[in-house]
Amino acid sequence: MSATSNDDSPGNQNSTGQAMKRMAIGIGVLVVLTALLFYAAGDGFYPWAKAIHVIAVISWMAGMLYLPRLFVYHVDAEKGSVQSETFKVMERRLLRGIINPAMIVTWVFGLWMAWKVFHFQGGWLHAKIALVLVLSGLHGYLAGAVRKFAEDRNEKPARHWRIVNEIPTLLMIVIVILVIVKPF
Ligand code: HEM
Repeated sequence: MSATSNDDSPGNQNSTGQAMKRMAIGIGVLVVLTALLFYAAGDGFYPWAKAIHVIAVISWMAGMLYLPRLFVYHVDAEKGSVQSETFKVMERRLLRGIINPAMIVTWVFGLWMAWKVFHFQGGWLHAKIALVLVLSGLHGYLAGAVRKFAEDRNEKPARHWRIVNEIPTLLMIVIVILVIVKPF
């Protein structure tokens, strides 16, 4: 089967609806499981929330590091080639299947913990939220790039995507130090 005859190929109009449906089902299942856990764990829910937060963070960061790397290789693929069409499918699946839902889960559980235990107080927390906003802005920028690549409209060179690839790494290092060391 060629890349373009794949169900999730760039030209398939149904793929957007299917991906949204899958994401809605996934988030629905997570909401139900979280509600069950919330009632079962009672006062012990906080560490569970932190575990889910960290799992989501890992998934979000894995995607945010992999996506610009895919762009680096995609730039060199000839427009209209099977390779280029395959990159489009990989990029869209990564964005919709992993990066978007992982970001939502990270935010929901992060904000809940920030409210529940820290009452939104603490310099480290304010700095962390500010940096996560920057990370979310980068997420939006990469989502826009996925659209541009899908329409063969990317004009940025591989070097640009190599540099962009370093930004989530730097943000992640500072964010993790802020939340674990809590230096201020
Ligand atoms: C979306 C906004 C976010 C908010 C509001 C938030 C907030 C929080 C809060 C309140 C905690 C609990 C801290 C504790 O119990 O000491 C926590 C834990 C943690 N967060 Fe976030 N977070 C966010 C996003 C992120 C991101 C993007 C990363 C990594 C890149 C991250 C990494 C972690 C880690 C590693 C922990 C566990 C720390 C520990 O157990 O000591 N968070 N977060």
